[in-house]
Amino acid sequence: MEMKYWKKLSHKEQDIRITEALEININYRDIVPIGIPVSKLDSNVFYEHASFLKEAPLLRAFIQNPNHIGCHTLGNSEPFFEGTQQLEREVIELLSVDLLKANKNSCDGYIATGGTEANIQAAWIYRNYFIEDFDARIEEIALLSSVDTHYSVTKAANLLNIRSIGIPVDDETRIVVAEFLDNAIKQAIQDGIKYFIVISKWLQPCLVALMIPTFTQHIFQSTKLSIKYM
Ligand SMILES: Cc1ncc(COP(=O)(O)O)c(C=O)c1O
Repeated sequence: MEMKYWKKLSHKEQDIRITEALEININYRDIVPIGIPVSKLDSNVFYEHASFLKEAPLLRAFIQNPNHIGCHTLGNSEPFFEGTQQLEREVIELLSVDLLKANKNSCDGYIATGGTEANIQAAWIYRNYFIEDFDARIEEIALLSSVDTHYSVTKAANLLNIRSIGIPVDDETRIVVAEFLDNAIKQAIQDGIKYFIVISKWLQPCLVALMIPTFTQHIFQSTKLSIKYM
Protein backbone atom coordinates (compact mmCIF):
# COMPACT_ATOMS: atom_id res chain seq x y z
CA MET A 1 0.00 0.00 0.00
CA GLU A 2 1.54 3.29 -1.04
CA MET A 3 1.39 5.96 1.65
CA LYS A 4 1.35 9.66 0.80
CA TYR A 5 1.69 11.01 4.29
CA TRP A 6 2.35 8.08 6.58
CA LYS A 7 6.13 8.20 6.77
CA LYS A 8 7.94 6.68 9.69
CA LEU A 9 9.81 9.40 11.56
CA SER A 10 12.78 8.66 13.76
CA HIS A 11 12.58 9.66 17.39
CA LYS A 12 14.83 12.62 16.62
CA GLU A 13 12.61 13.77 13.74
CA GLN A 14 9.49 13.45 15.89
CA ASP A 15 11.20 15.47 18.58
CA ILE A 16 12.03 18.26 16.12
CA ARG A 17 8.49 18.38 14.66
CA ILE A 18 6.75 18.43 18.04
CA THR A 19 9.20 20.90 19.56
CA GLU A 20 8.70 23.29 16.63
CA ALA A 21 4.91 22.98 16.92
CA LEU A 22 4.94 23.62 20.68
CA GLU A 23 7.13 26.69 20.18
CA ILE A 24 4.55 28.19 17.83
CA ASN A 25 1.78 27.63 20.42
CA ILE A 26 1.48 29.94 23.37
CA ASN A 27 2.99 28.49 26.50
CA TYR A 28 1.13 29.26 29.72
CA ARG A 29 4.40 28.93 31.58
CA ASP A 30 5.54 32.22 30.05
CA ILE A 31 2.30 34.22 30.08
CA VAL A 32 -0.73 34.53 32.34
CA PRO A 33 -3.47 33.13 30.11
CA ILE A 34 -6.30 35.50 31.01
CA GLY A 35 -9.13 35.56 28.46
CA ILE A 36 -7.89 32.46 26.62
CA PRO A 37 -9.78 29.14 26.90
CA VAL A 38 -6.95 27.14 28.46
CA SER A 39 -6.08 25.33 31.63
CA LYS A 40 -2.55 25.06 32.91
CA LEU A 41 -1.80 21.72 34.50
CA ASP A 42 -0.82 21.82 38.16
CA SER A 43 2.99 21.94 38.26
CA ASN A 44 3.02 19.95 41.50
CA VAL A 45 1.48 17.01 39.70
CA PHE A 46 2.77 17.58 36.16
CA TYR A 47 6.26 18.79 36.86
CA GLU A 48 7.47 20.38 33.63
CA HIS A 49 11.17 20.37 34.56
CA ALA A 50 11.44 16.58 35.01
CA SER A 51 14.63 15.54 33.24
CA PHE A 52 13.06 12.64 31.30
CA LEU A 53 10.80 15.11 29.47
CA LYS A 54 13.78 16.16 27.35
CA GLU A 55 13.56 12.75 25.70
CA ALA A 56 9.77 12.61 25.55
CA PRO A 57 8.29 15.14 23.09
CA LEU A 58 4.77 13.66 23.20
CA LEU A 59 4.64 13.92 26.99
CA ARG A 60 5.90 17.50 26.72
CA ALA A 61 2.97 18.21 24.42
CA PHE A 62 0.52 16.77 26.94
CA ILE A 63 2.02 18.80 29.76
CA GLN A 64 1.86 22.00 27.72
CA ASN A 65 -1.83 21.08 27.28
CA PRO A 66 -2.83 22.86 24.05
CA ASN A 67 -6.56 23.39 23.60
CA HIS A 68 -7.58 22.81 19.98
CA ILE A 69 -10.93 24.45 20.48
CA GLY A 70 -12.66 25.46 17.24
CA CYS A 71 -12.72 23.90 13.81
CA HIS A 72 -9.36 24.58 12.19
CA THR A 73 -9.80 21.94 9.51
CA LEU A 74 -12.54 24.00 7.82
CA GLY A 75 -11.39 27.52 8.52
CA ASN A 76 -9.52 29.62 11.01
CA SER A 77 -9.60 28.86 14.67
CA GLU A 78 -7.94 30.06 17.86
CA PRO A 79 -4.49 31.31 16.78
CA PHE A 80 -2.88 30.42 20.12
CA PHE A 81 -2.38 26.79 19.17
CA GLU A 82 -1.48 27.11 15.50
CA GLY A 83 1.58 24.87 15.89
CA THR A 84 -0.14 21.73 17.15
CA GLN A 85 -3.33 22.45 15.16
CA GLN A 86 -1.17 21.94 12.07
CA LEU A 87 -0.08 18.54 13.42
CA GLU A 88 -3.73 17.62 13.97
CA ARG A 89 -4.60 18.64 10.39
CA GLU A 90 -1.79 16.40 9.14
CA VAL A 91 -3.01 13.42 11.16
CA ILE A 92 -6.57 13.84 9.82
CA GLU A 93 -5.24 14.02 6.25
CA LEU A 94 -3.01 11.00 6.85
CA LEU A 95 -5.86 8.89 8.25
CA SER A 96 -8.39 9.90 5.61
CA VAL A 97 -6.15 9.68 2.53
CA ASP A 98 -3.67 6.92 3.39
CA LEU A 99 -5.90 4.70 5.47
CA LEU A 100 -9.46 5.36 4.31
CA LYS A 101 -8.60 6.25 0.69
CA ALA A 102 -10.40 9.58 0.59
CA ASN A 103 -9.45 12.28 -1.92
CA LYS A 104 -6.86 14.79 -0.82
CA ASN A 105 -8.22 17.68 1.25
CA SER A 106 -11.73 16.25 1.20
CA CYS A 107 -12.09 15.43 4.90
CA ASP A 108 -12.79 17.46 7.96
CA GLY A 109 -12.65 16.35 11.58
CA TYR A 110 -10.79 16.41 14.83
CA ILE A 111 -8.92 14.00 17.04
CA ALA A 112 -11.34 12.90 19.76
CA THR A 113 -10.24 12.27 23.31
CA GLY A 114 -11.46 8.67 23.16
CA GLY A 115 -13.72 6.06 21.63
CA THR A 116 -16.97 7.04 23.35
CA GLU A 117 -16.70 10.63 22.23
CA ALA A 118 -15.80 9.58 18.67
CA ASN A 119 -18.78 7.23 18.44
CA ILE A 120 -21.24 9.77 19.84
CA GLN A 121 -19.89 12.43 17.49
CA ALA A 122 -20.20 10.21 14.39
CA ALA A 123 -23.74 9.12 15.27
CA TRP A 124 -24.68 12.75 15.98
CA ILE A 125 -23.42 13.82 12.54
CA TYR A 126 -25.47 11.14 10.79
CA ARG A 127 -28.59 11.69 12.89
CA ASN A 128 -28.52 15.39 12.04
CA TYR A 129 -27.73 14.64 8.39
CA PHE A 130 -30.90 12.54 8.14
CA ILE A 131 -32.93 15.23 9.92
CA GLU A 132 -31.58 18.14 7.87
CA ASP A 133 -31.30 16.56 4.41
CA PHE A 134 -34.21 14.09 4.50
CA ASP A 135 -36.59 15.73 6.97
CA ALA A 136 -36.34 12.57 9.06
CA ARG A 137 -38.17 12.47 12.35
CA ILE A 138 -36.22 11.28 15.36
CA GLU A 139 -38.39 8.15 15.74
CA GLU A 140 -37.51 7.14 12.17
CA ILE A 141 -33.76 6.84 12.82
CA ALA A 142 -32.02 3.76 14.27
CA LEU A 143 -28.45 2.85 15.16
CA LEU A 144 -27.73 -0.70 14.08
CA SER A 145 -24.88 -2.72 15.55
CA SER A 146 -23.91 -6.21 16.66
CA VAL A 147 -24.63 -7.14 20.30
CA ASP A 148 -20.85 -7.36 20.73
CA THR A 149 -20.40 -3.75 19.75
CA HIS A 150 -18.89 -1.53 22.42
CA TYR A 151 -21.52 -0.16 24.81
CA SER A 152 -20.58 3.42 23.95
CA VAL A 153 -22.80 2.93 20.89
CA THR A 154 -25.88 2.19 23.00
CA LYS A 155 -24.99 5.23 25.05
CA ALA A 156 -24.76 7.32 21.86
CA ALA A 157 -28.23 6.16 20.77
CA ASN A 158 -29.64 6.98 24.19
CA LEU A 159 -28.10 10.45 24.30
CA LEU A 160 -29.24 11.21 20.77
CA ASN A 161 -32.71 9.90 21.49
CA ILE A 162 -32.67 7.41 18.61
CA ARG A 163 -33.44 3.69 18.63
CA SER A 164 -30.57 1.25 19.23
CA ILE A 165 -30.85 -2.16 17.56
CA GLY A 166 -28.36 -4.89 18.55
CA ILE A 167 -28.12 -7.90 16.25
CA PRO A 168 -27.36 -11.29 17.86
CA VAL A 169 -24.13 -13.04 16.89
CA ASP A 170 -23.03 -16.65 16.50
CA ASP A 171 -21.74 -17.93 19.86
CA GLU A 172 -18.54 -19.36 18.41
CA THR A 173 -17.53 -17.00 15.59
CA ARG A 174 -19.11 -13.80 17.03
CA ILE A 175 -20.26 -13.01 13.50
CA VAL A 176 -23.68 -11.39 13.09
CA VAL A 177 -26.31 -13.98 12.18
CA ALA A 178 -27.70 -12.95 8.78
CA GLU A 179 -31.17 -14.25 9.54
CA PHE A 180 -31.42 -12.21 12.76
CA LEU A 181 -30.16 -9.15 10.97
CA ASP A 182 -32.73 -9.59 8.25
CA ASN A 183 -35.53 -10.03 10.80
CA ALA A 184 -34.40 -7.06 12.88
CA ILE A 185 -34.41 -4.80 9.83
CA LYS A 186 -37.86 -6.00 8.75
CA GLN A 187 -39.17 -5.43 12.27
CA ALA A 188 -37.61 -1.98 12.42
CA ILE A 189 -39.21 -1.03 9.11
CA GLN A 190 -42.56 -2.21 10.41
CA ASP A 191 -42.00 -0.04 13.48
CA GLY A 192 -41.51 2.99 11.25
CA ILE A 193 -37.70 3.16 11.00
CA LYS A 194 -36.60 4.63 7.66
CA TYR A 195 -33.02 5.70 8.34
CA PHE A 196 -30.23 3.45 9.59
CA ILE A 197 -26.84 4.36 10.98
CA VAL A 198 -24.87 1.12 10.77
CA ILE A 199 -21.81 0.36 12.85
CA SER A 200 -19.74 -1.38 10.24
CA LYS A 201 -16.67 -1.94 12.34
CA TRP A 202 -16.41 -4.41 15.14
CA LEU A 203 -15.94 -1.84 17.86
CA GLN A 204 -14.57 -4.21 20.45
CA PRO A 205 -10.82 -4.40 20.86
CA CYS A 206 -10.68 -7.82 22.46
CA LEU A 207 -12.43 -9.51 19.54
CA VAL A 208 -11.12 -9.79 16.03
CA ALA A 209 -13.59 -9.85 13.19
CA LEU A 210 -15.60 -7.62 10.95
CA MET A 211 -18.97 -8.53 9.62
CA ILE A 212 -21.81 -6.14 9.15
CA PRO A 213 -21.06 -4.47 5.76
CA THR A 214 -21.42 -7.56 3.61
CA PHE A 215 -24.76 -8.47 5.15
CA THR A 216 -26.21 -5.02 5.28
CA GLN A 217 -25.14 -4.08 1.76
CA HIS A 218 -26.99 -7.13 0.55
CA ILE A 219 -30.14 -6.31 2.51
CA PHE A 220 -30.19 -2.58 1.95
CA GLN A 221 -29.51 -2.81 -1.78
CA SER A 222 -32.97 -4.23 -2.29
CA THR A 223 -34.70 -1.47 -0.31
CA LYS A 224 -35.14 2.27 -0.65
CA LEU A 225 -33.97 2.89 2.88
CA SER A 226 -31.31 5.42 3.75
CA ILE A 227 -28.19 4.05 5.33
CA LYS A 228 -24.90 5.46 6.53
CA TYR A 229 -21.95 3.43 7.82
CA MET A 230 -19.96 4.44 10.86
C1 LIG B 1 -14.19 0.32 19.76
C2 LIG B 1 -14.31 1.10 20.98
N1 LIG B 1 -15.24 2.06 21.06
C3 LIG B 1 -15.34 2.82 22.18
C4 LIG B 1 -14.51 2.61 23.24
C5 LIG B 1 -14.62 3.51 24.44
O1 LIG B 1 -13.49 4.29 24.46
P1 LIG B 1 -13.19 5.32 25.62
O2 LIG B 1 -13.02 4.53 26.86
O3 LIG B 1 -11.94 5.99 25.13
O4 LIG B 1 -14.33 6.29 25.69
C6 LIG B 1 -13.56 1.59 23.20
C7 LIG B 1 -12.68 1.34 24.35
O5 LIG B 1 -11.97 0.38 24.42
C8 LIG B 1 -13.44 0.84 22.03
O6 LIG B 1 -12.53 -0.10 21.90
